[in-house]
This record gives sequence, C-alpha cells and structure tokens, in this order.
Amino acid sequence: MLRLSLPILFAIVGLHAAKAQLPMAIPPLLEQDTFQLSVGQHVHQFYPGVNTTTFGVNGPYLGPTLLMQRGDTARLRVINELPQVTSMHWHGMHVPGDMDGGPQREVMPGEVWDVKYRVENPAGTYWYHPHPHMLTASQATKGVAGMIIVRDAEEAALDLPRTYGVDDIPVVIQDRRFLANGNMPTAPYGDSVLVNGTPHAYLECPAQVVRLRLLNGANARVFTLGFENSEEMHVIAGDGGLLNAPVATDRLWLSNGERYEVLLDLTGMEGDSLLLMSFGSELPQTVPGANNMLWESSWLNGIDFPVLRIRVTAPTADPIMAIPSALGQAAPYDEALSVRSRTKALTGNGMVGMGMFMIDGQMFDMEVINDTMQLGSVEIWEIPNNSNMAHPMHIHGVSFFVLERNGIAAAPWEQGAKDVVLVDAGETVRLIMRFDHPTNDWPFMYHCHNLLHEDNMMMLQFIVTDQLTVGTTEPPTGDAIGIFPNPTSGLVWLHSTTPVDEFFVHDMSGRELMRARVNSATEVPIDLERLPPGPYLVSAARCGMRLMRLVVRE
Ligand code: C2O
Ligand code: CU
Ligand code: CU
Repeated sequence: MLRLSLPILFAIVGLHAAKAQLPMAIPPLLEQDTFQLSVGQHVHQFYPGVNTTTFGVNGPYLGPTLLMQRGDTARLRVINELPQVTSMHWHGMHVPGDMDGGPQREVMPGEVWDVKYRVENPAGTYWYHPHPHMLTASQATKGVAGMIIVRDAEEAALDLPRTYGVDDIPVVIQDRRFLANGNMPTAPYGDSVLVNGTPHAYLECPAQVVRLRLLNGANARVFTLGFENSEEMHVIAGDGGLLNAPVATDRLWLSNGERYEVLLDLTGMEGDSLLLMSFGSELPQTVPGANNMLWESSWLNGIDFPVLRIRVTAPTADPIMAIPSALGQAAPYDEALSVRSRTKALTGNGMVGMGMFMIDGQMFDMEVINDTMQLGSVEIWEIPNNSNMAHPMHIHGVSFFVLERNGIAAAPWEQGAKDVVLVDAGETVRLIMRFDHPTNDWPFMYHCHNLLHEDNMMMLQFIVTDQLTVGTTEPPTGDAIGIFPNPTSGLVWLHSTTPVDEFFVHDMSGRELMRARVNSATEVPIDLERLPPGPYLVSAARCGMRLMRLVVRE
C-alpha cells in the first residue's frame, strides 16, 4: 500500500514526536481606515527547528482579522510582494464585481490594488483569500487567507461574547502536509491539523459563554466537528450572519470555505478541559476526508482526530453567562419572487485532488460568460450532484438560502444566509438568492470550493447587470465602453474611451457568435442584423482587458 511514502512518514513522525501542545495563535485584529494587506513570501517554523517556506499576509502565515462595521466604507490596499501574480477575494462579502477580486482581477508582483466598498453584509464571519487563475490552491496552501468580522447594530444589541481573542475567537481549521524538506506541497490532504496555523493547538477559554468563529480553510477535507465528551455546540450564525435562534448540536459538518459561529457554555467548568475533534470515521465514502481507498490517501482520512484542546480558566470580569434564546430575523426570499430557475448539474468522476468535474456540462474558460442575471432579480438554483463525490459549492456576489436538500428542509443550522453549500453525491439542493450587486465588467464566479477542483476548472462565471432593461439611444458619456443604439434592430456602434483591438459577440449561454480584430478604433460598427432577437453580450478587448456590455437585438 502507498500509505507510508516518505513525506507522509515525516508527517507521522512529526505528529507523534511533537506531543507537546502549543498555544493557538490568534491573528492580530485590525480596525483601520485603510487595511494594508502585504502578501509576501516568508520562512516559518510550524514545528520547532523545521523551516517551511510560506506565503502570508503581513506575516508568515495567514493574515490579520479585519474588523468592519456594517454601513461603513471599507478601504483595503493589497500589496503583492510575492514573486508571482495573485488576486484577493472577499469571500461572502456583498461587493460589486470590480471589487470582488476574482481571477480576472490580477495583481502583478510589485503591484498594489486599492479596493473600496460599502460594508453591506450583516454581522458575521467572512474571509479573504487569493483567487488567481489556477494558483488559488497553491497560494492558499502556503498561507494566504484571513478572517473578516462584520459587526452591526442588530448583533450589538444581543448579549453575545464580543471580546476578540478572549471570548470571541477566530478558529481557522486546515490540514497540511509537510515534506521531509519542511515545505508544504499543494495537495488535497495533509496529515497535520493546523488551527490558525498552530499544530497541536490548545486554547485557554474563560469559564463562561464563549464564541468560536469556525472556518474551514482546508483545500479539500470536510471536518465533522464535535466534542469528545459530546458537549453541545450552540450554533448562532452561518456563512452570512445570525440564525434566528441558536441550534444545539453535537456535530457540525464544516466544508471548505464554510463558516459557523458557535457558542460553548463553559460556565462553572474552570479547571476542566475539552477536546474539539473531527469525527472523520463518520463521513460517507463520497465526502473528502473519508477513508475512500480509491482516492488520495492521508493518515487522517476516515479516522477521528483532535483539532483543538480547550482548557477552561477563570471567568473574566464581565462574562456572558447564558445563551440568548433569540438572535436574528433572516428569512429566505419568497419563492414567488423568483423570475428564473436555473439547474446547475454537477458531473464527472475523479479523485479529490484531480479529475474533470463540470458544472452544467461546462468548464471554466475566462473568455466565456456562462450566465447573465438582471440586477435585483431573485432566482432559484437547483444543484443536483451526479458526480462521484461531494462538492462544496460557492457563489460570489450573493448570500443564498437553502430551500431544500433532497426535497426536505435543510438542517436547522443550514437555514441562515449562506454562500457555500456542501452537495454530496446523489444529493440535490435548491437555493434562492437575489442578485443585488452589479458586476461592473468584472464577472462573479461560482465554483466548487475544493481548491483543487476550482483550479481544475470546476468554476463558471456570470454577470449581473441592469442593462437588460435600460434603453440607450445616445452614445455613452463617461463610461469606458458603450453600445448604442440599444436595443437595436441591426447595426450598433461600440464606443470606447481608448482604442479597441478586438471585439466579440456572445449569446447568453456563452457561445461565441462573432469575433473580429479592429484597428485600434474607438468607434466600431457591429452588425447584429442576422442574429435572432434577444440579448447578446458585446465585449471589447482593449489594453489586454475585456469590457463587456449587454445589447438587445429587437
Ligand atoms: Cu472563497 Cu471564489 O471563493
Ligand atoms: Cu467567494
Ligand atoms: Cu469539487
């Protein structure tokens, strides 16, 4: 059997030799007018005496926690000090496409990307990570990721723990493989569990109600969290903010990119200790992290393993002593408001770390827009998984509600706003969402959040526009490109503020219908006469960038 290859052997030695527990790192909390995020290469010792090359944000591994207030303007400056291209995505944050940091929004080495957006999300736990084309897994593996905490008035009115690092604690869970030379390969699985970058982590918590903000930052592994002694967790929030009431459970599946906030009631437990585990033996064979002999192996697959030791210390001066009974007010949109249903079937067969998985029979092509949505519209998406394994599906630009999983209501902790949903093989989920943010020429992505699948093209893109209904008869002013007249009965003019090298016409399913080189023109005639009536996407390539507009052929 292949299970004891050399790198894995090192990891096992590491796991067994370094029995001593280490205090869990708490990333610094930043609350700044402009968040400075320097992404750079470092050397870090996860294990004493072992040098590991890492990428981090403002430090060797992971990045600071960013504290934002709903309604404020967030300004962020991403500085790429890496020797390679990157991008930075604000996962779960409701921002327009030009601020979203998808793979199109490249930040080259030495470049700076200034970001500004209004914080519209409700109080909750979000995160940031790179999203460069085919490099997301390798950069995230090396350590580029961090948490975002949003606060708002609704949450502030509740009796909840809110002292960062004391009773309100970020918990970023990852598995990493360490090679004999100390480095971490980009792999689906690791054999070491890191919490906020700390192996064998322990955390001191006061004997009162504490809040853990759980984030699965692993490449592919799904964690099945629970306490060794069956101590209950009280789930208070999912990906997109507060649930309406706490839900007590002794198990919580956490798939890649998902977040849950949980309360632990440690009152009266001073001197006691608890062990947060991942019960991998409970995973079905179709879920990454199970002991599926056909897939990549890892020492941790299919077993129950410790994640975090919690040691209970004396309570603080002003502790929260009870779990509140009511929380938020979030409710799914009324299904009657949906103007369109889409089915996004997942297909393909493969391994956890490779394989050709498709969404809707398609794979990622940066040049193809796969869907177009009307700004402000509500849609229902149905995602049946016809492939051989579970995929954590994520949509940019929205939070969604899970209406149904296999025809019945989702688990109570899945009933809040979410942006990642794990769809197991053979399952179907139905989601409802509203597209409130325009893409502004920078498409949003939807994809599997298994980072190896994502990098392997299990990702598509869409635009959100209000131009489906807006009529234009005048040339645009102040816009980078414009199309007029729009709607049109045939000939349209593409106007551009800078010269265009090439233009394209796509239909709404992303099929390319026309493409022509033009000679650095700022006014380009395009004849749509022979196309059947309907909406089309006209895009212009200028200075290596593509800008897109929707045009309606009457
Ligand atoms: Cu967290 Cu498109 O990703
Ligand atoms: Cu995202
Ligand atoms: Cu996947």
